[in-house]
Amino acid sequence: MGDQEYQEYDDNLIALLESLWGEGFMSPGGTEEVDRYLHGVKLEGLSVLDIGCGLGGVDIHLIKHHRAALVTGIDVNPSLIERCNLLARKFKVETQSKFICVDPGPLEFDDASFDIVTSKDSIIHIPDKQALANDVYRVLEPGGWFVASDWLAGYEGEPSAEMQAYLVAEGLDFGLASAKTYLRALQGTGFADIEILDRNDWYRQQARLEREQLGGVLYAGLSSKVGSEFLEHEIKVWDKLIIAIDQGQLRPAHLRGRKPA
Ligand SMILES: C[S@@+](CC[C@H](N)C(=O)[O-])C[C@H]1O[C@@H](n2cnc3c(N)ncnc32)[C@H](O)[C@@H]1O
Repeated sequence: MGDQEYQEYDDNLIALLESLWGEGFMSPGGTEEVDRYLHGVKLEGLSVLDIGCGLGGVDIHLIKHHRAALVTGIDVNPSLIERCNLLARKFKVETQSKFICVDPGPLEFDDASFDIVTSKDSIIHIPDKQALANDVYRVLEPGGWFVASDWLAGYEGEPSAEMQAYLVAEGLDFGLASAKTYLRALQGTGFADIEILDRNDWYRQQARLEREQLGGVLYAGLSSKVGSEFLEHEIKVWDKLIIAIDQGQLRPAHLRGRKPA
């Protein structure tokens, strides 16, 4: 697959996201949010699949702090996979990590090949939630957990005009779905102990802090890195994002379910 096909997250956007959320992170909350959505699930000595690994920050954290034995990160963007490998080298976790560039579509792993499947804010890009849930269930060991965070739609059907304006401004290939759709997909597959924890309140506050940082403490450094035109554009995206979150149209959430033993 050519680089051009997946340049949604280009270097400028990535630089901006990392400056907000930390090295290796392209999603809100960084390592703290990872710890929150993983709470109570042990990774020590286990084999983990991370769907949509981005820059690999989540994966390094799962190895370094949660003591996962092997983390396999998959992503559709080849340049991100290269960056994951560089980060793994930097943190000296090459033997505990494997990063694979995949095509969108079914997971190409054998049945029951992972103890844990995780994903941080990436399933939003995968339109068929039922197909994904079936696949995650298939590749999990019996007794294994699916633990993730994602951005969900707070509406069924059409978004509000303001949400639509945000989606257009963001320009990312979002395949948003409601909590009801995720729940149906997880239940339909056979997952047990399903939980969907809404994080809208948390992100309402967080997004405001991010907006303040972009226009304040981060502004000078970022504008010299990514250019003031791009930065001003992104600040406008954040303004639209805040409206969409305040309306409850955009609802980050933590998701989990266990494949029965
Ligand atoms: C918001 S980023 C999150 C990256 C990382 N999980 C993090 O939290 O920093 C979403 C990622 O999903 C990836 N992605 C999009 N569609 C995908 C698919 N079908 N399979 C795997 N990854 C995908 C994108 O390339 C991007 O790296």
